[in-house]
Amino acid sequence: MNKKIAVTGIKPTGIPHIGNYFGAIKPALELTKEYDARYFIADYHALNSIKDPKLLQEMTYEVAATWLACGLNPKRSLVYRQSQVPETFDLTSILMAFTPKGLMNRAHAYKAKLAENEELKRDPDDGVNMGLFSYPVLMAADILLFDADVVPVGKDQAQHLEMTVDIAQSINHNYQKELLKIPQALIRKQTETVIGLDGRKMSKSYDNTIPLFLPTKKMRKLVMKIVTNSQTVEERKDPETCNIFALYKLFATPKEQEKMKIRYRAGGMGWGHAKQALFEKMEETISPIRKKYDEIISDKQYIDEILAAGSQKAREIAAEKIQSLKNELGLGTA
Ligand code: TRP
Repeated sequence: MNKKIAVTGIKPTGIPHIGNYFGAIKPALELTKEYDARYFIADYHALNSIKDPKLLQEMTYEVAATWLACGLNPKRSLVYRQSQVPETFDLTSILMAFTPKGLMNRAHAYKAKLAENEELKRDPDDGVNMGLFSYPVLMAADILLFDADVVPVGKDQAQHLEMTVDIAQSINHNYQKELLKIPQALIRKQTETVIGLDGRKMSKSYDNTIPLFLPTKKMRKLVMKIVTNSQTVEERKDPETCNIFALYKLFATPKEQEKMKIRYRAGGMGWGHAKQALFEKMEETISPIRKKYDEIISDKQYIDEILAAGSQKAREIAAEKIQSLKNELGLGTA
């Protein structure tokens, strides 16, 4: 039996942090065991906000190197760059004809921008490019082009997935045929949300992240900044309400976690010690990946080759899909 297909896009808009690693990268890599995975760099989506060519190029390499270092295997999964699969834009044009403008008006990202403009008493269209406005259509094309069964994403993407389903259904309905496979969103669980330095969700927008590939010294410095309460060394401490322990749990085995809980509850362990223990565990997990990352990122040609090979394969799959779709829509040739 053919494996089911998992598709997801990674927007190259920031340096990956520990929250991304546990929240997105690790679970998506897990899926590659069971699914035929098609994971791509959504560089055209990034272009909506990143207009600095050097930065966009760098981010693309960084994100690709991160995924490869973390274990994405291009021999087993299809890894490519959205901008190198122009069939995506054929499908985008087709989908546009079936996407009501009103649907786009309801998209969260666009609505957030409108609300911001209103608050700042700006013109409602200020800073809204058509890429942002029609963002969900391009995303639907990414997904529908590759016959995705499942799409692993964060909660923030749930609405985009609903829109993808809406658009696909309207096409299938119009032609009374399942021309497009209806995908299912695999929304990440809340428990996969990683806590940041200040105890809130780890997120670029809160400026509380720990980047995945920091030099050792810098990483230790950040770990030392994790916010704690003001209990003294002697006091007995509660691991379950502690930000340090929340992070420790991600890296430590269940046995190590139990041991650490005992140290917390016994008293006599200061926050400095707990942070040091966390740092050491993190270093243990991250340093081998960091080593691979450093190797990969210093060989851009290698990354280019992987992405070019993946994109070529992706184009073959995509071209077939577009051709049959065009025939069905009356856009074919005899
Ligand atoms: N919009 C997604 C994000 O911001 C990235 C993305 C683009 C994507 N195309 C996709 C995710 C297709 C899943 C499927 O994270």
